[in-house]
Amino acid sequence: MHIETITTHPYNDQNPGTSGLRKKVKVFQQPGYLENFVQAIFDSLDGFTGKTLVLGGDGRYFNRPAIQIIIKMAAANGFGELIIGQGGLLSTPAASHIIRKYNAFGGLILSASHNPGGPDEDFGIKYNVSNGGPAPEKDTNAFYQRSLVIDSYKTAHIEDIDLDRIGTHQIDNLSITIVDPVTDYAELMQSIFDFNLLKQSIGSGYITLLFDAMHAITGPYAKRILVDMLGATPDSVINAEPLEDFGGHHPDPNLAHAQELAERMFGSAPPVFGAASDGDGDRNMITGSHIFVTPSDSLAIMAANAHLIPAYTQGLRGVARSMPTSQAVDRVAACYNIPCYETPTGWKFFGNLLDAGKITLCGEESFGTGSDHVREKDGLWAVLFWLNLIAKKRQSVADIVNEHWQKFGRDIYCRHDYEAVEMDSANGIVEHLRNQLLTLPGQTFGEYTVKYADEFSYEDPIDGSISSNQGIRIGFENGSRIIFRLSGTGTVGATLRIYLERFEADASKHDQDAQMALAELINLAEQFCEIKKRTGRTEPNVVT
Ligand code: G1P
Ligand code: ZN
Repeated sequence: MHIETITTHPYNDQNPGTSGLRKKVKVFQQPGYLENFVQAIFDSLDGFTGKTLVLGGDGRYFNRPAIQIIIKMAAANGFGELIIGQGGLLSTPAASHIIRKYNAFGGLILSASHNPGGPDEDFGIKYNVSNGGPAPEKDTNAFYQRSLVIDSYKTAHIEDIDLDRIGTHQIDNLSITIVDPVTDYAELMQSIFDFNLLKQSIGSGYITLLFDAMHAITGPYAKRILVDMLGATPDSVINAEPLEDFGGHHPDPNLAHAQELAERMFGSAPPVFGAASDGDGDRNMITGSHIFVTPSDSLAIMAANAHLIPAYTQGLRGVARSMPTSQAVDRVAACYNIPCYETPTGWKFFGNLLDAGKITLCGEESFGTGSDHVREKDGLWAVLFWLNLIAKKRQSVADIVNEHWQKFGRDIYCRHDYEAVEMDSANGIVEHLRNQLLTLPGQTFGEYTVKYADEFSYEDPIDGSISSNQGIRIGFENGSRIIFRLSGTGTVGATLRIYLERFEADASKHDQDAQMALAELINLAEQFCEIKKRTGRTEPNVVT
């Protein structure tokens, strides 16, 4: 194999965010841009000669050319084996599973998750380590540092690989295996859930369902598992064909973007259960007939009922949630007397806790839930979890949610996103918030007295690493919280996220509209951060 060293010039913007490096496709198409970042990753890692690298992506525009580039670079840098999903496709959780199952050294996942795709939209790449999870901050920092000084990359002169043909190619010391992207993952799901019960419940018509793959990666997974294996009717999976531009939509599973699903679930004669997943298959949105389950509630409900699922009958070791996720799961943990960890936003912070066996389930308010079965959040796993619960409890989604609230109380929750805010304004807002942290505690606003105001910092209980500046928290005496943070995944300007929550113990008040119930907190949030005043915005772009 002829290996060439190509001279390159560093780019100064290759700092990975919450979940890998995400930029516009056009940015990635600049000469050497992708190559620099991949080489920076390889240069920062040790000991992979002869080892296995897993490779796949969500199928968005630029996925295939990027995979061919990476194959040649991985070959030149000395990997011994590449495992690649057919067509260059692997959902993020499936990639995580394959890394673990085949003891790979690591994996490269090509995705910008829920961001739109196409020539003028977004692309992304992230490195996952041998536990199957996203590289920790010390690694992503090293990638960035290396990218700032990189002056060459290595590539091998080999023909493009036929990504569509399953099988193994041997090129000198390198073996390249194209695998079916679904098979291993489907087997894993079968080992976790009660597929017989699901088959019965779906086959008998007790559970009717609708799954929106949003023209993204989960189409083939959902068709195989929900339709072929569990017997759902073919029209139960909509937008099932992965498209490079996701049909021009945001493949983001929320009520705003999964519109068709939302219309059906809130229309006449909806199915019992409805769900959607995102670009790369790690997110999930759960709905039932005329009900939307917030991701924070979903996590809490899953934790409270996990013992009903075959893989978790022994109970949970512990749970974790990202800091802005509501405290609903904390109440479940307290009731079951298991630990509950609060981590910064981003799945990478759950990895150590999962590896150390401290937690079994974890989740984020951003439509992410997962367990120790992989080291990524997992959209279809969450869907199957809910289906298994409905089948086992023989209750509707609404009944499951209401029963949960009755027992634990309701954490009324919502998130407001202001997207594409000018960077200077966004930084000004954060600075303005920081300046109030010392004076806010003790002040009373209507029924809300500030108990604490701080900037979240996390010390990893396993490796002691510290992550600071992880969002501004304002907590009130009555348990309510307002949290502000800037997104680390956007590609245009800055996105300010405002997270609002209020606890309601009184069951007669559980049936409230979240925006109404949170109106006072929403006003307070504006009073503290002045986003409307400073930017002239009148309302958030997305409310979830
Ligand atoms: C967002 C979510 C975060 C999630 C990440 C990757 O990051 O808020 O919970 O882990 O996407 O899916 P953010 O844009 O807020 O940095
Ligand atoms: Zn995703």
